[in-house]
Amino acid sequence: MPRTSDETDFGYERIPLGDKQARVDSVFHSVARRYDLMNDLMSGGLHRAWKEALVTAVNPPKKELAFSVLDLAGGTGDVAFRIADAGGPGTRVTVADINAGMLEVGRERAAKAKRKIEFVEANAEKLPLPDKSFDAVTIAFGIRNVPRIDAALEEAHRVLKIGGRFLCLEFSSVDVPGLDRLYELYSFNVIPAVGRAVTGDAEAYRYLVESIRKFPRSEKFADMIRAAGFRRVSFESMTGGVVALHSGWRL
Ligand SMILES: C[S@@+](CC[C@H](N)C(=O)[O-])C[C@H]1O[C@@H](n2cnc3c(N)ncnc32)[C@H](O)[C@@H]1O
Repeated sequence: MPRTSDETDFGYERIPLGDKQARVDSVFHSVARRYDLMNDLMSGGLHRAWKEALVTAVNPPKKELAFSVLDLAGGTGDVAFRIADAGGPGTRVTVADINAGMLEVGRERAAKAKRKIEFVEANAEKLPLPDKSFDAVTIAFGIRNVPRIDAALEEAHRVLKIGGRFLCLEFSSVDVPGLDRLYELYSFNVIPAVGRAVTGDAEAYRYLVESIRKFPRSEKFADMIRAAGFRRVSFESMTGGVVALHSGWRL
């Protein structure tokens, strides 16, 4: 029997820590081709506004100034495209994701849009990237899927330049009376059903919903960001707590 400390959550299941990445990978391989469409359907388009808030916080310079951004767990490149669009000609965006299927969709999107985005297949827990090389590191709806969150936060800190900013968009907990019940019903009934209809995989979307419930509350996650070495750590809740935007600086 594995020790409790060697176990982790995969949605509501307890599984050996070493098994989690393969289970997560199979979820995203299964949904990769329909991933962006599903985001629009599940969130009623709200994910666009959440991502825009992230891009505003990144604040890439409009001028020629060199500015390099790493988008961790960047999947199909949705956040990367938005940052590149917001920035000037000096803005370079690199997407790192562990899943070849998600990256393939991203590379195709970039080729179609003639965008110069770099896609790297990499585990956020151990990045094949040099120390102090990025002005900003972002991660949107990715961190809760990473088995060793503390390792990924330390890596984000390592690759940031001094003075660089870490920004993490993640689902949080809805505390508004009335909205919480509605959100619960929607999450456990509508999302898996839409997931089945669009991707043929209701289980993948059940995992997504359960993993949101298992993710630490915003205050606790902010403590984890601090523990990785970040300073001036803060977060902002959006849409009644459905999502939180976390921020920390490497100083
Ligand atoms: C919900 S998607 C988010 C994609 C994108 N950031 C967005 O907001 O559209 C989660 C992504 O995390 C990636 N992922 C999971 N574990 C990872 C790891 N250990 N390292 C890097 N990426 C990982 C998955 O492959 C998937 O593309």
